[in-house]
Amino acid sequence: MTPDSLKRLRDWFRANAAELPWRLANLDALRDPYVVWISETMLQQTQVSTVKDYFIRWMRRFPDVETLAKADEAEVFKFWQGLGYYSRARNILKTAKIVATLRQAQGPSKMPETRKELEALPGIGAYTAGAILSLAYHKREAILDGNLVRIFSRLYKLDFLPTSRNRVRDDRSGMTEKKATQSSSEIYWGYAREIADSPKAYIHNEALMELGRTVCKTKSPLCEACPLHNECCAFIDGQTAEFPPVKKRLEKNWHGTVLVVESKDGKILAVNGGQKFLDGQLSLPHFESMRGATVGFPAKAEDYINADDVETVEQRGTFRHSITVHKIECNVLHVQLSINAKNSRTSGAYTTKWIEKAKAFETFANSFSLKALKKVF
Ligand code: ADE
Repeated sequence: MTPDSLKRLRDWFRANAAELPWRLANLDALRDPYVVWISETMLQQTQVSTVKDYFIRWMRRFPDVETLAKADEAEVFKFWQGLGYYSRARNILKTAKIVATLRQAQGPSKMPETRKELEALPGIGAYTAGAILSLAYHKREAILDGNLVRIFSRLYKLDFLPTSRNRVRDDRSGMTEKKATQSSSEIYWGYAREIADSPKAYIHNEALMELGRTVCKTKSPLCEACPLHNECCAFIDGQTAEFPPVKKRLEKNWHGTVLVVESKDGKILAVNGGQKFLDGQLSLPHFESMRGATVGFPAKAEDYINADDVETVEQRGTFRHSITVHKIECNVLHVQLSINAKNSRTSGAYTTKWIEKAKAFETFANSFSLKALKKVF
């Protein structure tokens, strides 16, 4: 991008930046790295409109790293509930504890200020590290998120995604020798670094994210309003709809075990949250396991029940199921307990609930759990 187009991008952002709870009115002010870290982590895979309320609630309860570091995981999950991908919340807490300890040891300081140190922390990858370094500390560091990928793909008509480590075919017209031998990911990061190689990296990065979110949208981009349309190869050629290429839906095979845990008084154990699938709804407890018959009581089942309370464990066969891109094959284990059902409880990311066996088929609203129940009753 030329200096002129970067200036147009900055001017566009200054005139159009939305007011967001993690943004300061002064777009040129340094920001709190904690705020950048939490907001950008929430924004991964979740839309701005959803994140706003979660972010405000989070900051009221955990206004800084020290407060967060002292919280217990169950509470952190509660504030994350609904954002999905609970490993993100778990990693945030782990990192908060590490950063709070660093601060105690080194006196009051901030989050680390180098990419290497940041990327060594749980849950902080190239994108989040770049966001903290550029948006909070105003360092010349690149970021690459889905918005930037879409923009670069259209600007330069890149007909590949930055997902593969494979070398890009070298018969691509208009491509330089050097680029033809880079991996697809390196090519995108190269463009990202180009716009970040400036004292204004912080504004270029955030302006592109905003442009991608509001103008260079996946569907029906608003090209007439785009400050970069004069140099956008896809726009000039009338091909914005063809870039970026559609991601192939990968089928993912997953093998697991579903537990049908029955108490002495005929109740079935259900869980809500913290599972691989069916987050936010009542399901049977399940976890990843090796293909083939499970012998005895699996250690992972101890997350839910005490091994001493188990009377028998029976393998009841397998079933197949599909959820989004996942092709699932599950063992079903019927676990008979020697004790009566206990009260519901919340532990980590999930809540347990005991339901009457007679009502089990009407209580579960997902076919995943129903298929497993049918193997037992
Ligand atoms: N999407 C993710 N992070 C963003 C940001 N800081 N501004 C606009 N859109 C974003």
